[in-house]
Amino acid sequence: MSQNVTYAVELKNVQKKYNGLIAVNNLNLTIKAGEIFGLLGPNGSGKSTTLKMLLGLVQPDSGSVHVLGLDVKDDPVAVKKLVGYVPETPRLYEFLTGIEFLDFIGDVYGIASTEKQTRVNEYLRALQLEGREGDMISSYSEGMKQKIALISAFLHKPKLLVLDEPLNGLDPRSARIVKDLLYKLKEQGVTTIMSTHILEIAQAVCDRIGIMYQGNLLALGNMEELRKMAKLPGSGLEDIFLKLTGTGDVKAVVEELVR
Ligand SMILES: Nc1ncnc2c1ncn2[C@@H]1O[C@H](COP(=O)(O)OP(=O)(O)OP(=O)(O)O)[C@@H](O)[C@H]1O
Ligand SMILES: [Mg+2]
Repeated sequence: MSQNVTYAVELKNVQKKYNGLIAVNNLNLTIKAGEIFGLLGPNGSGKSTTLKMLLGLVQPDSGSVHVLGLDVKDDPVAVKKLVGYVPETPRLYEFLTGIEFLDFIGDVYGIASTEKQTRVNEYLRALQLEGREGDMISSYSEGMKQKIALISAFLHKPKLLVLDEPLNGLDPRSARIVKDLLYKLKEQGVTTIMSTHILEIAQAVCDRIGIMYQGNLLALGNMEELRKMAKLPGSGLEDIFLKLTGTGDVKAVVEELVR
């Protein structure tokens, strides 16, 4: 066990390269229990790599990663038991039906049979999958598959949720239900770290936001702190994001394209 049990997530001097290319550069980040933390950044900025390192799915080249007081390198299985993860491209067993898959996931986590059934049914109803649970996953729409991935991450009541673009493909009602669920779980002390490109969602849901750019954590704070950092008082996250990542020349780019 680590000494730093007060943090749900603690990354210290974390570096990850792929074939010499820096994906995550000297990342230092702590997230408190019960926080909803948003990881933003342009494509390829290192968000998914960072999230994968929290589960031990990607090993950092250097630095340390602690999750819920556990060193991910030493205790990868213990970490996975406590964490619910939705990858950016969930891989589901497409030849199973939705209910068979969730049943299987419930068994993997050792959830007692009646409790598992109750929870699965509640989630299926909440996310409007009722009536389709007996169909093969291969026949589901993208949003339906995303819902199954989300349910399988929530099912074992994890202490930490690691969600890589969790609202991908969800209709407005389901996105709202997932957002409200994150608030409720927060009240129970559950921590969430999520990546998203939907800045309105990040602004509305997250207690703090980290903005990554080319593997570096460029900015970190709540909305007020980010506004100060960007010297954009009163502005929304979109303007802050575009300014801090130096990608604010949108108008010129579009004009060039239509010339
Ligand atoms: N398995 C891999 N092999 C080689 N390079 C990789 C691998 N995974 C990621 N990378 C590289 O690492 C960098 C960061 O990728 P990552 O997937 O973490 O970005 P991201 O912020 O999640 O992007 P996106 O918004 O597109 O999901 C990119 O340059 C990417 O090409
Ligand atoms: Mg990604």
